[in-house]
Amino acid sequence: MNYNITVLDGDGIGPEICAGAIKVLQKIGEKFGHKFNFTHLPIGGCAIDECGVPLPEKTVEGCLKSDSVLLGAVGGPKWDNLAVDVRPEKGLLGIRKAMGLYSNIRPAKLWKSLANASPLKYELVKDGIEIIIVRELTGGIYFGERASGDNWATDTEKYSVAEIERITKIACELALKRKKQIVSVDKANVLASSRLWRKTVHEYCEKNYPEIEVKDVLVDNMAMQIVKDPAQFDVVVTSNLFGDILSDEAAQVTGSIGMLASSSLGDTKCGLYEPIHGSAPDIAGKDIANPIATILAAAMMLRDSFNLSKEYTAIESAIQGVLDENYRTADIMEDGKIKVSGSKMAQLIAEKI
Ligand code: IPM
Ligand code: MN
Repeated sequence: MNYNITVLDGDGIGPEICAGAIKVLQKIGEKFGHKFNFTHLPIGGCAIDECGVPLPEKTVEGCLKSDSVLLGAVGGPKWDNLAVDVRPEKGLLGIRKAMGLYSNIRPAKLWKSLANASPLKYELVKDGIEIIIVRELTGGIYFGERASGDNWATDTEKYSVAEIERITKIACELALKRKKQIVSVDKANVLASSRLWRKTVHEYCEKNYPEIEVKDVLVDNMAMQIVKDPAQFDVVVTSNLFGDILSDEAAQVTGSIGMLASSSLGDTKCGLYEPIHGSAPDIAGKDIANPIATILAAAMMLRDSFNLSKEYTAIESAIQGVLDENYRTADIMEDGKIKVSGSKMAQLIAEKI
Protein backbone atom coordinates (compact mmCIF):
# COMPACT_ATOMS: atom_id res chain seq x y z
CA MET A 1 0.00 0.00 0.00
CA ASN A 2 0.88 3.62 -0.47
CA TYR A 3 0.71 5.95 2.55
CA ASN A 4 1.16 9.71 2.65
CA ILE A 5 2.65 10.83 5.94
CA THR A 6 3.06 14.45 6.95
CA VAL A 7 6.13 14.97 9.11
CA LEU A 8 6.08 17.96 11.44
CA ASP A 9 9.69 17.91 12.61
CA GLY A 10 9.28 20.96 14.84
CA ASP A 11 12.07 22.35 17.00
CA GLY A 12 15.08 21.29 19.05
CA ILE A 13 15.68 17.56 18.71
CA GLY A 14 12.49 17.22 16.60
CA PRO A 15 14.23 16.88 13.20
CA GLU A 16 16.79 14.30 14.38
CA ILE A 17 14.27 12.04 16.12
CA CYS A 18 11.90 12.22 13.15
CA ALA A 19 14.81 11.24 10.88
CA GLY A 20 15.30 8.14 13.03
CA ALA A 21 11.62 7.20 12.75
CA ILE A 22 11.66 7.75 8.98
CA LYS A 23 14.66 5.45 8.64
CA VAL A 24 12.75 2.70 10.46
CA LEU A 25 9.56 3.28 8.44
CA GLN A 26 11.54 3.03 5.21
CA LYS A 27 12.88 -0.33 6.31
CA ILE A 28 9.35 -1.48 7.17
CA GLY A 29 8.28 -0.36 3.70
CA GLU A 30 11.00 -2.44 2.03
CA LYS A 31 10.32 -5.47 4.16
CA PHE A 32 6.53 -5.48 4.04
CA GLY A 33 5.99 -3.98 0.58
CA HIS A 34 4.58 -0.55 1.48
CA LYS A 35 5.46 2.82 0.12
CA PHE A 36 5.59 5.70 2.58
CA ASN A 37 5.72 9.20 1.11
CA PHE A 38 6.93 11.86 3.53
CA THR A 39 6.04 15.54 3.28
CA HIS A 40 7.75 17.84 5.78
CA LEU A 41 5.86 20.92 6.95
CA PRO A 42 6.71 23.54 9.59
CA ILE A 43 5.11 23.86 13.04
CA GLY A 44 6.09 25.64 16.26
CA GLY A 45 9.19 27.80 16.53
CA CYS A 46 10.58 26.93 13.10
CA ALA A 47 7.23 27.93 11.58
CA ILE A 48 7.38 31.25 13.45
CA ASP A 49 10.84 31.84 11.97
CA GLU A 50 9.80 30.77 8.48
CA CYS A 51 6.22 32.05 8.20
CA GLY A 52 5.64 34.32 11.21
CA VAL A 53 3.03 32.03 12.81
CA PRO A 54 3.32 28.74 14.75
CA LEU A 55 0.77 26.96 12.58
CA PRO A 56 0.79 28.10 8.95
CA GLU A 57 -2.27 27.39 6.81
CA LYS A 58 -0.23 25.14 4.49
CA THR A 59 0.63 22.94 7.48
CA VAL A 60 -3.02 22.51 8.46
CA GLU A 61 -3.99 21.73 4.86
CA GLY A 62 -1.14 19.27 4.44
CA CYS A 63 -2.05 17.43 7.66
CA LEU A 64 -5.73 17.23 6.79
CA LYS A 65 -5.11 15.69 3.40
CA SER A 66 -2.47 13.18 4.48
CA ASP A 67 -3.09 9.68 5.79
CA SER A 68 -1.48 10.53 9.14
CA VAL A 69 0.93 12.88 10.86
CA LEU A 70 4.21 12.29 12.67
CA LEU A 71 5.32 15.09 14.98
CA GLY A 72 8.73 15.60 16.62
CA ALA A 73 8.42 18.30 19.29
CA VAL A 74 7.89 22.06 19.48
CA GLY A 75 9.27 24.95 21.50
CA GLY A 76 12.52 26.31 22.85
CA PRO A 77 13.98 29.28 24.72
CA LYS A 78 14.35 31.25 21.49
CA TRP A 79 10.58 31.77 21.32
CA ASP A 80 9.81 31.95 25.06
CA ASN A 81 9.27 35.68 25.21
CA LEU A 82 6.77 35.98 22.37
CA ALA A 83 3.12 36.88 22.95
CA VAL A 84 1.02 33.87 23.92
CA ASP A 85 -0.78 33.68 20.57
CA VAL A 86 2.38 33.25 18.55
CA ARG A 87 4.24 30.87 20.81
CA PRO A 88 5.28 27.45 19.45
CA GLU A 89 2.86 25.59 21.78
CA LYS A 90 -0.01 27.37 20.07
CA GLY A 91 0.90 25.46 16.91
CA LEU A 92 0.45 22.15 18.67
CA LEU A 93 -2.85 23.13 20.28
CA GLY A 94 -4.02 24.51 16.93
CA ILE A 95 -3.30 21.36 14.95
CA ARG A 96 -5.03 19.20 17.57
CA LYS A 97 -8.13 21.36 17.28
CA ALA A 98 -7.97 21.67 13.47
CA MET A 99 -7.74 17.90 13.04
CA GLY A 100 -10.41 17.24 15.71
CA LEU A 101 -8.04 15.05 17.73
CA TYR A 102 -10.01 14.78 20.95
CA SER A 103 -8.48 11.54 22.18
CA ASN A 104 -4.87 11.40 23.34
CA ILE A 105 -3.60 8.00 24.35
CA ARG A 106 -0.40 7.97 26.37
CA PRO A 107 0.82 4.58 27.43
CA ALA A 108 3.40 4.72 30.23
CA LYS A 109 5.10 1.39 30.03
CA LEU A 110 8.08 0.10 31.94
CA TRP A 111 10.42 -1.72 29.59
CA LYS A 112 11.64 -4.74 31.54
CA SER A 113 15.23 -4.22 30.38
CA LEU A 114 15.10 -0.69 31.82
CA ALA A 115 13.57 -1.48 35.24
CA ASN A 116 16.63 0.04 36.93
CA ALA A 117 15.89 3.38 35.29
CA SER A 118 12.71 3.88 37.32
CA PRO A 119 13.16 6.33 40.18
CA LEU A 120 10.87 4.11 42.30
CA LYS A 121 12.00 1.25 44.53
CA TYR A 122 12.48 -2.00 42.64
CA GLU A 123 9.69 -3.81 44.59
CA LEU A 124 7.17 -1.29 43.28
CA VAL A 125 8.01 -1.85 39.63
CA LYS A 126 9.32 -5.40 39.47
CA ASP A 127 6.13 -6.80 37.94
CA GLY A 128 6.04 -4.13 35.29
CA ILE A 129 3.90 -1.03 34.86
CA GLU A 130 1.62 -0.17 31.99
CA ILE A 131 -0.65 2.75 32.66
CA ILE A 132 -2.59 3.91 29.64
CA ILE A 133 -3.69 7.48 30.13
CA VAL A 134 -6.60 8.47 27.91
CA ARG A 135 -6.51 12.24 27.94
CA GLU A 136 -9.29 14.44 26.54
CA LEU A 137 -7.43 16.73 24.14
CA THR A 138 -9.62 19.39 22.57
CA GLY A 139 -11.69 20.69 25.49
CA GLY A 140 -11.49 21.85 29.07
CA ILE A 141 -9.35 24.70 30.34
CA TYR A 142 -6.98 24.48 27.36
CA PHE A 143 -9.69 25.77 25.06
CA GLY A 144 -12.12 27.50 27.46
CA GLU A 145 -12.64 31.24 27.61
CA ARG A 146 -9.67 33.23 28.80
CA ALA A 147 -9.40 36.84 29.85
CA SER A 148 -7.06 39.07 31.75
CA GLY A 149 -6.80 42.62 33.00
CA ASP A 150 -4.03 44.55 34.68
CA ASN A 151 -4.27 42.72 37.97
CA TRP A 152 -6.43 39.67 37.26
CA ALA A 153 -6.67 36.75 34.84
CA THR A 154 -9.12 33.92 34.31
CA ASP A 155 -9.27 30.59 32.44
CA THR A 156 -12.37 28.43 32.15
CA GLU A 157 -12.76 24.69 32.55
CA LYS A 158 -15.85 23.75 30.54
CA TYR A 159 -16.99 20.32 29.42
CA SER A 160 -20.13 19.16 27.65
CA VAL A 161 -21.74 15.76 28.13
CA ALA A 162 -20.95 14.91 24.49
CA GLU A 163 -17.24 15.66 24.97
CA ILE A 164 -17.08 13.50 28.09
CA GLU A 165 -19.01 10.66 26.49
CA ARG A 166 -16.83 10.37 23.42
CA ILE A 167 -13.60 10.18 25.41
CA THR A 168 -15.18 7.70 27.83
CA LYS A 169 -16.04 5.53 24.86
CA ILE A 170 -12.39 5.49 23.75
CA ALA A 171 -11.29 4.43 27.24
CA CYS A 172 -13.98 1.72 27.41
CA GLU A 173 -13.02 0.27 24.02
CA LEU A 174 -9.41 0.02 25.21
CA ALA A 175 -10.47 -1.48 28.54
CA LEU A 176 -12.52 -4.16 26.78
CA LYS A 177 -9.29 -5.47 25.23
CA ARG A 178 -7.50 -5.31 28.59
CA LYS A 179 -8.72 -5.66 32.20
CA LYS A 180 -12.26 -4.32 31.72
CA GLN A 181 -11.61 -1.61 34.28
CA ILE A 182 -11.24 2.12 33.96
CA VAL A 183 -10.14 4.69 36.49
CA SER A 184 -11.68 8.10 35.94
CA VAL A 185 -9.78 11.02 37.44
CA ASP A 186 -11.45 14.28 38.45
CA LYS A 187 -11.70 16.86 41.22
CA ALA A 188 -15.41 16.36 41.91
CA ASN A 189 -15.07 17.44 45.53
CA VAL A 190 -14.45 20.99 44.31
CA LEU A 191 -15.24 21.53 40.63
CA ALA A 192 -18.67 21.58 38.95
CA SER A 193 -17.07 20.47 35.67
CA SER A 194 -15.65 17.44 37.48
CA ARG A 195 -19.04 16.57 38.98
CA LEU A 196 -20.49 16.54 35.47
CA TRP A 197 -17.50 14.48 34.33
CA ARG A 198 -18.03 11.87 37.04
CA LYS A 199 -21.80 11.61 36.56
CA THR A 200 -21.45 11.35 32.77
CA VAL A 201 -18.73 8.70 32.88
CA HIS A 202 -20.85 6.52 35.19
CA GLU A 203 -24.11 6.94 33.31
CA TYR A 204 -22.42 6.33 29.96
CA CYS A 205 -20.63 3.20 31.13
CA GLU A 206 -23.69 1.73 32.88
CA LYS A 207 -25.71 2.15 29.71
CA ASN A 208 -23.14 1.21 27.06
CA TYR A 209 -20.43 -0.82 28.77
CA PRO A 210 -22.05 -2.56 31.76
CA GLU A 211 -19.21 -5.11 31.87
CA ILE A 212 -16.64 -2.41 32.62
CA GLU A 213 -15.86 -1.53 36.21
CA VAL A 214 -15.47 2.20 36.79
CA LYS A 215 -13.51 3.61 39.70
CA ASP A 216 -13.21 7.31 40.50
CA VAL A 217 -10.00 8.75 41.89
CA LEU A 218 -9.51 12.41 42.84
CA VAL A 219 -6.63 13.98 40.96
CA ASP A 220 -4.54 14.79 44.04
CA ASN A 221 -4.87 11.24 45.29
CA MET A 222 -4.06 9.96 41.80
CA ALA A 223 -0.82 11.94 41.73
CA MET A 224 0.11 10.27 44.99
CA GLN A 225 -0.97 6.75 43.96
CA ILE A 226 1.11 6.89 40.77
CA VAL A 227 4.29 7.13 42.82
CA LYS A 228 3.04 4.89 45.64
CA ASP A 229 1.77 1.92 43.66
CA PRO A 230 1.75 2.49 39.88
CA ALA A 231 1.12 -1.17 39.07
CA GLN A 232 -2.49 -0.89 40.33
CA PHE A 233 -3.50 1.16 37.25
CA ASP A 234 -4.42 0.09 33.76
CA VAL A 235 -6.69 2.38 31.71
CA VAL A 236 -7.10 5.88 33.14
CA VAL A 237 -9.43 8.47 31.60
CA THR A 238 -9.26 12.15 32.44
CA SER A 239 -9.59 15.74 31.31
CA ASN A 240 -7.13 17.71 29.21
CA LEU A 241 -5.31 19.45 32.08
CA PHE A 242 -5.24 16.54 34.51
CA GLY A 243 -4.13 14.24 31.68
CA ASP A 244 -1.30 16.59 30.78
CA ILE A 245 0.03 16.55 34.33
CA LEU A 246 -0.55 12.89 35.19
CA SER A 247 0.89 11.60 31.92
CA ASP A 248 4.21 13.33 32.62
CA GLU A 249 4.21 11.87 36.11
CA ALA A 250 3.37 8.36 34.89
CA ALA A 251 6.02 8.63 32.17
CA GLN A 252 8.68 9.65 34.65
CA VAL A 253 7.83 6.74 36.92
CA THR A 254 8.81 4.37 34.12
CA GLY A 255 12.19 6.10 34.12
CA SER A 256 12.35 6.28 30.38
CA ILE A 257 10.49 9.28 29.04
CA GLY A 258 12.69 8.92 25.94
CA MET A 259 10.91 5.62 25.24
CA LEU A 260 7.25 6.67 25.36
CA ALA A 261 4.98 7.63 22.48
CA SER A 262 1.44 8.89 22.18
CA SER A 263 -1.36 8.95 19.65
CA SER A 264 -3.99 11.62 19.13
CA LEU A 265 -7.08 10.64 17.19
CA GLY A 266 -10.54 11.91 16.43
CA ASP A 267 -13.33 10.34 14.45
CA THR A 268 -11.19 9.46 11.42
CA LYS A 269 -8.14 7.27 10.92
CA CYS A 270 -5.93 10.30 10.29
CA GLY A 271 -4.13 10.84 13.59
CA LEU A 272 -1.13 12.60 15.01
CA TYR A 273 1.64 10.56 16.58
CA GLU A 274 4.42 11.97 18.68
CA PRO A 275 6.89 11.20 21.45
CA ILE A 276 5.75 12.20 24.95
CA HIS A 277 8.95 14.13 25.65
CA GLY A 278 9.65 17.68 24.55
CA SER A 279 12.07 19.40 22.18
CA ALA A 280 15.09 19.27 24.56
CA PRO A 281 16.82 22.32 23.02
CA ASP A 282 19.87 21.83 25.27
CA ILE A 283 20.87 18.63 23.45
CA ALA A 284 19.60 19.49 19.95
CA GLY A 285 22.00 18.89 17.07
CA LYS A 286 24.37 16.74 19.15
CA ASP A 287 23.03 13.39 17.96
CA ILE A 288 22.51 12.17 21.52
CA ALA A 289 18.71 12.31 21.71
CA ASN A 290 16.96 8.95 22.04
CA PRO A 291 14.86 8.35 18.89
CA ILE A 292 12.97 5.36 20.34
CA ALA A 293 9.86 7.27 21.48
CA THR A 294 9.42 8.71 17.99
CA ILE A 295 10.07 5.33 16.39
CA LEU A 296 7.36 3.90 18.64
CA ALA A 297 5.06 6.76 17.70
CA ALA A 298 5.56 5.78 14.05
CA ALA A 299 4.81 2.17 14.99
CA MET A 300 1.57 3.25 16.69
CA MET A 301 0.63 5.07 13.50
CA LEU A 302 1.05 1.86 11.52
CA ARG A 303 -1.11 -0.07 13.97
CA ASP A 304 -3.81 2.46 14.84
CA SER A 305 -4.20 4.49 11.64
CA PHE A 306 -3.19 1.98 8.95
CA ASN A 307 -4.24 -1.31 10.62
CA LEU A 308 -0.71 -2.72 10.16
CA SER A 309 -0.36 -4.77 13.35
CA LYS A 310 2.39 -7.07 12.10
CA GLU A 311 4.49 -4.08 11.17
CA TYR A 312 3.88 -2.57 14.63
CA THR A 313 5.06 -5.75 16.28
CA ALA A 314 8.11 -5.90 14.01
CA ILE A 315 9.21 -2.46 15.24
CA GLU A 316 8.49 -3.22 18.88
CA SER A 317 10.48 -6.47 18.70
CA ALA A 318 13.35 -4.74 16.91
CA ILE A 319 13.55 -2.19 19.75
CA GLN A 320 13.43 -4.94 22.34
CA GLY A 321 16.15 -6.82 20.43
CA VAL A 322 18.47 -3.83 20.33
CA LEU A 323 17.94 -3.22 24.07
CA ASP A 324 18.60 -6.90 24.76
CA GLU A 325 21.90 -6.51 22.93
CA ASN A 326 22.69 -3.81 25.50
CA TYR A 327 22.73 -0.79 23.21
CA ARG A 328 21.67 2.41 24.99
CA THR A 329 21.43 6.09 24.19
CA ALA A 330 22.79 8.50 26.82
CA ASP A 331 19.44 9.01 28.60
CA ILE A 332 19.05 5.30 29.41
CA MET A 333 22.72 4.43 29.77
CA GLU A 334 23.77 2.18 32.66
CA ASP A 335 27.11 0.69 33.70
CA GLY A 336 28.23 -2.15 31.47
CA LYS A 337 26.02 -1.19 28.50
CA ILE A 338 27.11 0.09 25.10
CA LYS A 339 26.49 3.79 24.55
CA VAL A 340 25.40 4.78 21.05
CA SER A 341 24.33 8.02 19.36
CA GLY A 342 20.71 8.72 18.44
CA SER A 343 21.26 8.05 14.74
CA LYS A 344 23.14 4.83 15.50
CA MET A 345 20.25 3.65 17.69
CA ALA A 346 17.79 4.25 14.84
CA GLN A 347 20.08 2.46 12.43
CA LEU A 348 20.42 -0.56 14.75
CA ILE A 349 16.63 -0.79 15.08
CA ALA A 350 16.14 -0.49 11.30
CA GLU A 351 18.70 -3.22 10.72
CA LYS A 352 16.83 -5.57 13.07
CA ILE A 353 13.62 -5.35 11.04
C1 IPM B 1 1.89 17.98 25.89
C2 IPM B 1 2.50 19.34 26.04
C3 IPM B 1 1.52 20.36 25.50
C4 IPM B 1 0.25 20.26 26.31
C5 IPM B 1 2.06 21.80 25.47
C6 IPM B 1 3.36 21.89 24.72
C7 IPM B 1 1.04 22.76 24.93
O1 IPM B 1 2.83 19.60 27.36
O2 IPM B 1 1.65 17.54 24.76
O3 IPM B 1 1.66 17.33 26.91
O4 IPM B 1 0.16 20.84 27.40
O5 IPM B 1 -0.67 19.58 25.87
MN1 MN C 1 2.48 17.92 28.71
